[in-house]
Amino acid sequence: MNYKSIAIDGPSGAGKSTLAKLLASELGYLYVDTGAIYRTVGLCAFRRGIAPEDRAGVVAMLGTFSLDLKHGEDGLQHMYLDGEDVSEDIRRPEISMYASAVSALPEVREFLMEMQRGLARRQNVIMDGRDIGTVVLPDADLKLFLTASAEDRAQRRYAELREKGIATDFETVLADMATRDKNDASRAAAPLRQAEDAVLVDTTGNTLEESFQMLLKTVKERFGE
Ligand code: DC
Repeated sequence: MNYKSIAIDGPSGAGKSTLAKLLASELGYLYVDTGAIYRTVGLCAFRRGIAPEDRAGVVAMLGTFSLDLKHGEDGLQHMYLDGEDVSEDIRRPEISMYASAVSALPEVREFLMEMQRGLARRQNVIMDGRDIGTVVLPDADLKLFLTASAEDRAQRRYAELREKGIATDFETVLADMATRDKNDASRAAAPLRQAEDAVLVDTTGNTLEESFQMLLKTVKERFGE
């Protein structure tokens, strides 16, 4: 049987994960957050004291840890590093930077490729990331590229971190986001870019409900429902 896949790419804070989760539950698809996979590799480097820019060190680390992705009863994705549930730890701001740096290494991307493709072979998925429509699932049934202004994205990320009780301020979040955007879009290996056949959705100024309805309409049009 051929399963359906929806790829959602875009910069951080564009609302990808929130919207992908809502869409997945509406359509009965599995939501896969690929950023969380890169974050887990970043966390592993952090815990082992390996600088994320130390290419040889990070490459030597690959294959020396176990990385698992499991979905709970609630449909939410959990990440496990050497058997420990690290789903909360990987959200820390310093781990965002580690994830962004390790994700620039082609060896890391190659190492994680099969895990991501394998998930899409086994069920209907909505997968979010940076290179899902361009590299991981080039044959996805629908590709969405989600974006919003830098201020809007930083504002959302700031609210998210505060809600989780992570101490930070807006200026730091905005500056961190600008650095990560630059890293993610300028790297040589699978940089963030819109696939030619992706539908561009700009969520600037939209409420969550408005953005969700825009996406749902696009999905229905494509899938003819
Ligand atoms: O979506 P996120 O912010 O949780 O992702 C964390 C980092 O991982 C981000 O800086 C870029 C990287 N990433 C990537 O390179 N490719 C993906 N498919 C997903 C994330």
